[in-house]
Amino acid sequence: MSRKPLVSGNWKMHHTHLDAIAFVQKLAFSLDAEDHRRTDVSLHPAFTALRSVQTVLDADRIPVALGAQDVHWEQKGAFTGEISPLMLAKLNVSYVIVGHSERRQYFGETDETVSKKVRAVLAAGMTPIICVGENEEQREAGGAEDLVVGQLEAALRSVAPEAVASLVVAYEPIWAIGTGRTATPDDAQAMAAALRAAVVADHGSEAGAGVRIQYGGSVNPDNVADMLGGPDVDGALVGGASLDAEVFARLITQLRPG
Ligand code: 13P
Repeated sequence: MSRKPLVSGNWKMHHTHLDAIAFVQKLAFSLDAEDHRRTDVSLHPAFTALRSVQTVLDADRIPVALGAQDVHWEQKGAFTGEISPLMLAKLNVSYVIVGHSERRQYFGETDETVSKKVRAVLAAGMTPIICVGENEEQREAGGAEDLVVGQLEAALRSVAPEAVASLVVAYEPIWAIGTGRTATPDDAQAMAAALRAAVVADHGSEAGAGVRIQYGGSVNPDNVADMLGGPDVDGALVGGASLDAEVFARLITQLRPG
């Protein structure tokens, strides 16, 4: 089964809605139909820019998917400051990042809240991008693979196999995020293979064949083709190199053949 790569730009806490509009127009201009045929692209602006980006994507029929960076697990209620899956779905959001290491590290995200969010995103008809990854200490102690597989298994608890087949997992080693240090392509492939094997074991071979596994952590136009070279690495979750439209477009066009 061949999986179409997904390259996702996670803007984190960058770009006002006005910056976002200019970015999308520039990006659209720099990509051609062949890029879109080969690679799915999603953009994950801050909540304040979602509506503006959606309007530009729709008006200009730009084949880039809209994504969010987080969500609450309830569809509505007394949760001051939170955003619900229903609100995102109404904005035509397709992908929602869940369990990013920055949310786990700074905002108390746990395997349990990640699991609730994954189910809520699926229930609202969107696709979660489930983030997993080890820190430097955990890698040095030799437990990275068990830890990362454990994070994924916790996130997928009580998710139906058909749903698992269509979702996205992002392997982001924490020591590679924003540091300029990437994992090697072999490390990324080895972890992606371990994650896929765990999905096959827990949810069946169709789920394993369908799930897309991204690598994230200091991906840029110079290393993206190598990082995505392994057969189990199906895309990239990009932070810093997604902030400039010209750089992000160059990164995507690196995936053209030849
Ligand atoms: P960088 O690409 O800036 O390392 O960030 C990766 C990331 O955390 C994407 O979610």
